[in-house]
Amino acid sequence: MNVIIITGASSGMGAEFAFQLDYSVGNIDEIWLIARRREAMLEVAQNMEHTTRVLDMDITNAAHIARFKNVLEKDKPVIRMLVNCAGYGVMGQFAKLDMNEQLGMVDVNCRALTQLTYMCIPYMRKNSRIIQLASSAAFMPQPGFAVYAASKAYVFSFSRALGRELKARKIYVTAVCPGPVNTPFFDTAEKNGKILAVKKLAMAQADKVVEKAISDSFHKREKSVYGGWINAFGIAAKLIPHRLILAFLPNK
Ligand SMILES: NC(=O)c1ccc[n+]([C@@H]2O[C@H](COP(=O)([O-])OP(=O)(O)OC[C@H]3O[C@@H](n4cnc5c(N)ncnc54)[C@H](OP(=O)(O)O)[C@@H]3O)[C@@H](O)[C@H]2O)c1
Repeated sequence: MNVIIITGASSGMGAEFAFQLDYSVGNIDEIWLIARRREAMLEVAQNMEHTTRVLDMDITNAAHIARFKNVLEKDKPVIRMLVNCAGYGVMGQFAKLDMNEQLGMVDVNCRALTQLTYMCIPYMRKNSRIIQLASSAAFMPQPGFAVYAASKAYVFSFSRALGRELKARKIYVTAVCPGPVNTPFFDTAEKNGKILAVKKLAMAQADKVVEKAISDSFHKREKSVYGGWINAFGIAAKLIPHRLILAFLPNK
């Protein structure tokens, strides 16, 4: 049984991956949707042609992960694609934010992504794909979004190294590094502070970011960056010393 697995499929870019892969990929028996909110995923599934399996789970919960492991061991799917989209960010000064919310970012964005990737690789075959949602926040440190940016730097670094390791097996890994994307992400992210107005200028639509990510994955690219502003930011973050850029950024 050939499957695609998408985490964070109840909302935003995860739901968009589900819709776009549903109509663009052939030879797939089931698309598995993972997130905590079952009802929201059922709504996504209702608008898809493929057979879907809705796995409501908190990917930071050890018992839920064990349940998922059992599903894999029982069904032995061939995982043609894993899209690790689940994640969240909270803006604000590190020392003033709730500690558990910040540790949660590390748990969801880094730990759970790493664990699910590890669990899925044995079920992959030649030409399978892994898409990891990093962020342009991975390109340099971000005061006022410190833990989130660091978590995405982890995802970006991990994905690039993993891509090299899996190349011989012809499994291809793409790190997606969008700037701000218009999704419910900001309902949580802006709880304690607003993003810079200049960042709002670069706000992208989820369908465009996802379309490019899928195309970059099919083209075996290790990185997917949508939009001229974000590409320019990525280049600047490589060429200009970070301490100079940081000197011009507000520290909150
Ligand atoms: N929007 C942006 O500006 C932006 C920019 C760059 C990168 N990203 C990254 O893109 C990814 C998708 O974000 P989005 O913009 O689509 O945001 P979103 O609409 O808020 O989606 C986040 C998804 O993560 C799931 N999730 C969160 N915690 C979870 C947990 N513990 N267990 C299982 N699922 C969990 C949520 O589902 P439930 O609540 O149902 O569990 C939801 O489906 C994230 O990794 C985010 O960091 C976003």
